[in-house]
Amino acid sequence: AAAPAGLPDLRGQRYLISAGGTREPLDPVRFLGNRSSGKQGAQLARAAAQAGAAVDLVAANIDVAVLADLPPGVRVRAVETTAQLQTACAELAPGADAVIMAAAVADYRPAHTAEHKMKKDGDAGLTLELAQNPDVLRGLVAQRAAEGWGAALVGFAAETGSPGRPALELAEEKLLRKGCDLLVFNDVSAGRAFGSEDNEVAILAVRDGRAHVAARAHGSKAQVSHAVIGAVAALPRR
Ligand code: CTP
Ligand code: CA
Repeated sequence: AAAPAGLPDLRGQRYLISAGGTREPLDPVRFLGNRSSGKQGAQLARAAAQAGAAVDLVAANIDVAVLADLPPGVRVRAVETTAQLQTACAELAPGADAVIMAAAVADYRPAHTAEHKMKKDGDAGLTLELAQNPDVLRGLVAQRAAEGWGAALVGFAAETGSPGRPALELAEEKLLRKGCDLLVFNDVSAGRAFGSEDNEVAILAVRDGRAHVAARAHGSKAQVSHAVIGAVAALPRR
């Protein structure tokens, strides 16, 4: 069947999409994590599959309800930690036409993971030592340059901005810093929440070493997904 109206024809293409949020274990029963629901990433997988692509969805701690009813073209690989997400992406990206990093990747992990459940120490507080996680997306940019494969690389960023630093400016800098091809920027200054049904994004691209807004999209996460898939498909082939 042809792709639904508004979607590019992705038959014969392979998309790798990471979604959800990574969790970093403190001990066998506790973790550091984030509230990403994985809904946007699941909708991206749905849209890419509807457009005809074979999709690998690397799902970091996504509720089964969010993954229910995905089309048959979507293969789900469940991961928990950033290290597992990185391994899965490094393995699958070389065979992909596009990699969309919608996952909220934990920036830090506990420097030590306790083998046994941690016990309280009297009434003392607890200080955790954290180590910085590798940047999976930057790693893929470097891997692509070293190995010469051709997947488009797409990041996601939610920014609030800060006094004197508009969120859009931070997103443009982030795109150039990461070295990926597109950055889907979500302005969360107005207090738009994680896990919500609606979304509003600007899709940033690079031209002549400068970041610019290539497209804007708002509406349901499905509508935003269609815009993102359209922008990815419109990138020049590498
Ligand atoms: N990302 C990644 N690996 C990380 C952190 C982020 O691959 N360790 C990816 C995310 O999946 C996303 C993009 O990078 O596609 C931007 O994530 P973001 O958290 O906004 O960027 P950071 O580089 O972590 O910057 P910040 O300090 O603003 O969190
Ligand atoms: Ca981060």
